[in-house]
Amino acid sequence: MKPMLNKLSPSITKMIRMDHTHVLATFHKFTPETSADKKQAIANTVCLALEIHAQLEEEIFYPALQAVAVDREVLDKSKPEHDEMRRLIARLRSLQPGDADFDTTLQQLMRDVMHHVADEETVLLPAAERLLADRLGELGARMTRRRLELAAPHAGEIAVNTARTMPATTMVMAAGGLIAGGLLLKKALELRRH
Ligand SMILES: [Fe+2]
Ligand SMILES: [Fe+2]
Repeated sequence: MKPMLNKLSPSITKMIRMDHTHVLATFHKFTPETSADKKQAIANTVCLALEIHAQLEEEIFYPALQAVAVDREVLDKSKPEHDEMRRLIARLRSLQPGDADFDTTLQQLMRDVMHHVADEETVLLPAAERLLADRLGELGARMTRRRLELAAPHAGEIAVNTARTMPATTMVMAAGGLIAGGLLLKKALELRRH
């Protein structure tokens, strides 16, 4: 199945961009007038997606970049920025949409995430595409396999939150790599059986 997944998975840099797009698109549904239920679903979706994404980058993407010559300043601050993001996620999870700090904590989290994503998309991803060009597919397949493991215990929660935050027509697109990864794995398993 490994070669099959390598062929079917998006490259690691494409998958990282899809994750960023998904988190930002979810946050774009958030306004001060959004209902409490929807605010909670948006926060749940953003927090879990960021946690899984950060772990995938730390386990697979950053170590691959360590081995090649990239901008050390940007790479070295990535993990501490993830840790700060995790601190804000823990704070957000301790709050309810009616609490005074709920909106500002989510906005602060997303402001930090946007800066972090800008560094990744303008420095680290292009560097990976230059310096790791022949490994992007294999790394993408590893990321798909690991994503499925990390997301599996949260499958019900992801479905409920996605349904609450997205109109049905955009759900498939918005769930991005996660759904794509699941479909690819299913297809790869079917092909292997035949
Ligand atoms: Fe990151
Ligand atoms: Fe990222």
